[in-house]
Amino acid sequence: MKILITGVAGFIGMHVAKRFLEKGHKVFGVDNLNDYYDVQLKKDRLENLNEKNYKFVFKKIDITEYEKLSVFVKDQVFDLVIHLAAQAGVRYSIVNPHAYIDSNVTGFLNVLEICKNNQIKHLIYASSSSVYGNNKKKDFVVDPNTMQIGQVTYIPGSGLFEKVTNAVTFEEAFRPYVFEETAS
Ligand SMILES: NC(=O)c1ccc[n+]([C@@H]2O[C@H](COP(=O)([O-])OP(=O)(O)OC[C@H]3O[C@@H](n4cnc5c(N)ncnc54)[C@H](O)[C@@H]3O)[C@@H](O)[C@H]2O)c1
Repeated sequence: MKILITGVAGFIGMHVAKRFLEKGHKVFGVDNLNDYYDVQLKKDRLENLNEKNYKFVFKKIDITEYEKLSVFVKDQVFDLVIHLAAQAGVRYSIVNPHAYIDSNVTGFLNVLEICKNNQIKHLIYASSSSVYGNNKKKDFVVDPNTMQIGQVTYIPGSGLFEKVTNAVTFEEAFRPYVFEETAS
Protein backbone atom coordinates (compact mmCIF):
# COMPACT_ATOMS: atom_id res chain seq x y z
CA MET A 1 0.00 0.00 0.00
CA LYS A 2 1.00 3.61 -0.45
CA ILE A 3 0.10 5.68 2.60
CA LEU A 4 0.21 9.39 3.39
CA ILE A 5 0.78 10.21 7.06
CA THR A 6 0.51 13.77 8.30
CA GLY A 7 2.30 14.61 11.56
CA VAL A 8 4.73 11.80 10.81
CA ALA A 9 7.41 13.22 13.13
CA GLY A 10 4.99 13.19 16.02
CA PHE A 11 4.65 10.68 18.79
CA ILE A 12 1.87 8.63 17.22
CA GLY A 13 2.79 9.42 13.59
CA MET A 14 6.27 7.98 13.90
CA HIS A 15 5.08 4.75 15.49
CA VAL A 16 2.32 4.27 12.96
CA ALA A 17 4.69 5.00 10.05
CA LYS A 18 7.29 2.61 11.38
CA ARG A 19 4.77 -0.20 11.68
CA PHE A 20 3.69 0.23 8.06
CA LEU A 21 7.30 0.54 6.83
CA GLU A 22 8.31 -2.62 8.67
CA LYS A 23 5.58 -4.42 6.79
CA GLY A 24 7.01 -3.21 3.47
CA HIS A 25 4.48 -0.48 2.68
CA LYS A 26 5.48 2.84 1.14
CA VAL A 27 4.95 5.83 3.42
CA PHE A 28 4.88 9.48 2.39
CA GLY A 29 5.09 11.69 5.46
CA VAL A 30 4.62 15.38 6.09
CA ASP A 31 5.23 17.43 9.20
CA ASN A 32 6.03 21.09 9.85
CA LEU A 33 8.46 20.17 12.68
CA ASN A 34 7.08 22.94 14.85
CA ASP A 35 8.65 23.78 18.21
CA TYR A 36 5.68 22.98 20.45
CA TYR A 37 8.15 20.53 21.99
CA ASP A 38 11.75 19.49 21.31
CA VAL A 39 12.37 19.70 17.56
CA GLN A 40 15.43 17.47 17.82
CA LEU A 41 13.21 14.69 19.12
CA LYS A 42 11.09 15.00 15.97
CA LYS A 43 14.20 14.94 13.78
CA ASP A 44 15.47 11.85 15.60
CA ARG A 45 12.15 10.14 14.91
CA LEU A 46 12.52 10.91 11.21
CA GLU A 47 16.06 9.48 11.27
CA ASN A 48 14.53 6.36 12.68
CA LEU A 49 12.16 6.16 9.75
CA ASN A 50 15.00 6.60 7.27
CA GLU A 51 16.79 3.54 8.59
CA LYS A 52 17.17 0.28 6.73
CA ASN A 53 15.61 0.02 3.33
CA TYR A 54 12.34 1.55 4.34
CA LYS A 55 10.31 3.09 1.54
CA PHE A 56 9.90 6.44 3.28
CA VAL A 57 9.57 9.86 1.66
CA PHE A 58 9.46 12.92 3.92
CA LYS A 59 8.69 16.53 3.15
CA LYS A 60 8.58 19.37 5.62
CA ILE A 61 5.18 20.87 4.91
CA ASP A 62 2.72 22.79 7.01
CA ILE A 63 -0.76 21.41 6.33
CA THR A 64 -2.17 24.92 6.51
CA GLU A 65 -0.36 25.54 3.21
CA TYR A 66 -2.75 23.92 0.79
CA GLU A 67 -0.73 24.49 -2.36
CA LYS A 68 2.44 22.88 -1.00
CA LEU A 69 0.53 19.89 0.27
CA SER A 70 -1.29 19.60 -3.00
CA VAL A 71 1.92 19.60 -5.04
CA PHE A 72 3.46 16.94 -2.80
CA VAL A 73 0.45 14.67 -3.15
CA LYS A 74 -0.21 15.33 -6.83
CA ASP A 75 0.15 12.34 -9.13
CA GLN A 76 0.42 9.94 -6.21
CA VAL A 77 -2.20 7.28 -5.76
CA PHE A 78 -2.66 6.75 -2.04
CA ASP A 79 -4.60 3.83 -0.66
CA LEU A 80 -4.91 5.48 2.69
CA VAL A 81 -4.38 8.81 4.43
CA ILE A 82 -3.67 8.83 8.15
CA HIS A 83 -4.09 12.35 9.47
CA LEU A 84 -2.21 12.93 12.73
CA ALA A 85 -0.79 16.45 12.27
CA ALA A 86 -2.38 18.59 14.91
CA GLN A 87 -1.80 21.05 17.67
CA ALA A 88 -2.22 18.77 20.65
CA GLY A 89 -2.32 19.64 24.31
CA VAL A 90 -4.79 21.69 26.27
CA ARG A 91 -2.95 24.32 28.30
CA TYR A 92 -1.07 25.71 25.28
CA SER A 93 -4.40 26.79 23.79
CA ILE A 94 -4.40 29.65 26.29
CA VAL A 95 -0.95 30.76 25.13
CA ASN A 96 -1.42 30.26 21.41
CA PRO A 97 -5.06 29.72 20.43
CA HIS A 98 -4.33 30.45 16.76
CA ALA A 99 -2.18 27.33 16.51
CA TYR A 100 -5.26 25.20 17.22
CA ILE A 101 -7.49 26.84 14.66
CA ASP A 102 -4.72 26.91 12.04
CA SER A 103 -3.67 23.27 12.32
CA ASN A 104 -6.76 21.54 13.65
CA VAL A 105 -9.40 23.35 11.63
CA THR A 106 -7.80 24.92 8.53
CA GLY A 107 -5.19 22.17 8.27
CA PHE A 108 -7.75 19.43 8.63
CA LEU A 109 -9.94 21.02 6.00
CA ASN A 110 -6.94 21.10 3.65
CA VAL A 111 -6.34 17.40 4.24
CA LEU A 112 -9.98 16.69 3.45
CA GLU A 113 -9.69 18.71 0.25
CA ILE A 114 -6.55 16.80 -0.70
CA CYS A 115 -8.42 13.54 -0.18
CA LYS A 116 -11.36 14.77 -2.22
CA ASN A 117 -9.27 16.07 -5.08
CA ASN A 118 -7.10 12.95 -5.25
CA GLN A 119 -9.92 10.43 -4.96
CA ILE A 120 -8.49 8.98 -1.74
CA LYS A 121 -11.06 6.57 -0.45
CA HIS A 122 -9.83 5.74 3.02
CA LEU A 123 -9.08 8.31 5.69
CA ILE A 124 -8.13 7.72 9.29
CA TYR A 125 -7.93 10.80 11.48
CA ALA A 126 -7.03 11.30 15.09
CA SER A 127 -9.67 12.29 17.47
CA SER A 128 -9.27 13.89 20.86
CA SER A 129 -9.96 12.78 24.37
CA SER A 130 -12.24 15.83 24.45
CA VAL A 131 -14.92 13.65 22.83
CA TYR A 132 -15.34 12.08 26.23
CA GLY A 133 -16.68 15.44 27.36
CA ASN A 134 -17.35 15.93 31.02
CA ASN A 135 -18.35 12.33 31.36
CA LYS A 136 -18.12 11.27 34.98
CA LYS A 137 -18.49 7.56 34.26
CA LYS A 138 -15.44 5.40 34.78
CA ASP A 139 -15.89 3.57 31.46
CA PHE A 140 -15.51 6.42 28.97
CA VAL A 141 -18.28 6.88 26.46
CA VAL A 142 -18.01 9.33 23.59
CA ASP A 143 -20.21 12.32 24.30
CA PRO A 144 -22.63 12.63 21.36
CA ASN A 145 -23.01 16.33 22.10
CA THR A 146 -19.35 17.05 21.56
CA MET A 147 -18.96 18.79 18.22
CA GLN A 148 -16.03 17.59 16.22
CA ILE A 149 -14.84 18.97 12.95
CA GLY A 150 -15.58 15.61 11.34
CA GLN A 151 -19.20 16.09 12.22
CA VAL A 152 -19.43 19.66 11.00
CA THR A 153 -17.61 19.22 7.70
CA TYR A 154 -18.67 17.18 4.71
CA ILE A 155 -17.37 13.83 5.92
CA PRO A 156 -20.62 12.23 7.08
CA GLY A 157 -22.90 11.05 4.34
CA SER A 158 -20.90 12.76 1.60
CA GLY A 159 -20.07 9.54 -0.23
CA LEU A 160 -16.55 10.87 -0.69
CA PHE A 161 -14.91 8.10 1.27
CA GLU A 162 -15.50 4.39 1.28
CA LYS A 163 -14.17 4.30 4.79
CA VAL A 164 -13.52 6.95 7.44
CA THR A 165 -12.03 5.89 10.72
CA ASN A 166 -12.08 8.31 13.57
CA ALA A 167 -9.44 6.83 15.83
CA VAL A 168 -10.77 7.76 19.23
CA THR A 169 -9.01 4.83 20.83
CA PHE A 170 -5.45 6.22 20.73
CA GLU A 171 -5.90 7.29 24.27
CA GLU A 172 -6.10 3.74 25.50
CA ALA A 173 -3.44 2.38 23.16
CA PHE A 174 -0.79 4.91 24.11
CA ARG A 175 -1.69 5.73 27.69
CA PRO A 176 1.44 4.14 29.23
CA TYR A 177 3.70 6.43 27.16
CA VAL A 178 1.87 9.72 27.36
CA PHE A 179 2.31 12.80 29.47
CA GLU A 180 -0.87 14.27 30.89
CA GLU A 181 -0.30 17.43 28.86
CA THR A 182 -0.20 15.63 25.51
CA ALA A 183 -3.23 13.47 26.19
CA SER A 184 -5.70 15.66 24.39
N1 LIG B 1 -1.02 11.19 22.45
C1 LIG B 1 -2.25 10.80 22.83
O1 LIG B 1 -2.48 10.14 23.84
C2 LIG B 1 -3.42 11.14 22.00
C3 LIG B 1 -4.63 10.66 22.40
C4 LIG B 1 -5.73 10.93 21.63
C5 LIG B 1 -5.60 11.68 20.51
N2 LIG B 1 -4.41 12.16 20.13
C6 LIG B 1 -4.33 12.95 18.92
O2 LIG B 1 -3.49 12.31 17.97
C7 LIG B 1 -2.82 13.30 17.18
C8 LIG B 1 -1.33 13.10 17.23
O3 LIG B 1 -0.92 13.14 18.58
P1 LIG B 1 0.60 13.02 19.01
O4 LIG B 1 0.60 12.64 20.44
O5 LIG B 1 1.37 12.19 18.02
O6 LIG B 1 1.04 14.56 18.90
P2 LIG B 1 2.46 15.17 18.48
O7 LIG B 1 2.40 16.61 18.87
O8 LIG B 1 3.57 14.33 18.98
O9 LIG B 1 2.44 15.03 16.90
C9 LIG B 1 1.79 15.94 16.05
C10 LIG B 1 2.75 16.23 14.91
O10 LIG B 1 2.06 17.08 13.99
C11 LIG B 1 2.95 18.10 13.58
N3 LIG B 1 2.15 19.25 13.20
C12 LIG B 1 1.42 20.06 14.02
N4 LIG B 1 0.83 21.02 13.31
C13 LIG B 1 1.18 20.81 12.02
C14 LIG B 1 0.89 21.49 10.80
N5 LIG B 1 0.14 22.59 10.78
N6 LIG B 1 1.40 21.01 9.65
C15 LIG B 1 2.19 19.89 9.67
N7 LIG B 1 2.52 19.23 10.79
C16 LIG B 1 2.01 19.68 11.94
C17 LIG B 1 3.86 18.37 14.77
O11 LIG B 1 5.11 18.93 14.39
C18 LIG B 1 4.01 16.97 15.37
O12 LIG B 1 5.16 16.32 14.88
C19 LIG B 1 -3.29 14.65 17.75
O13 LIG B 1 -4.42 15.06 17.02
C20 LIG B 1 -3.71 14.32 19.17
O14 LIG B 1 -4.65 15.23 19.70
C21 LIG B 1 -3.30 11.90 20.86
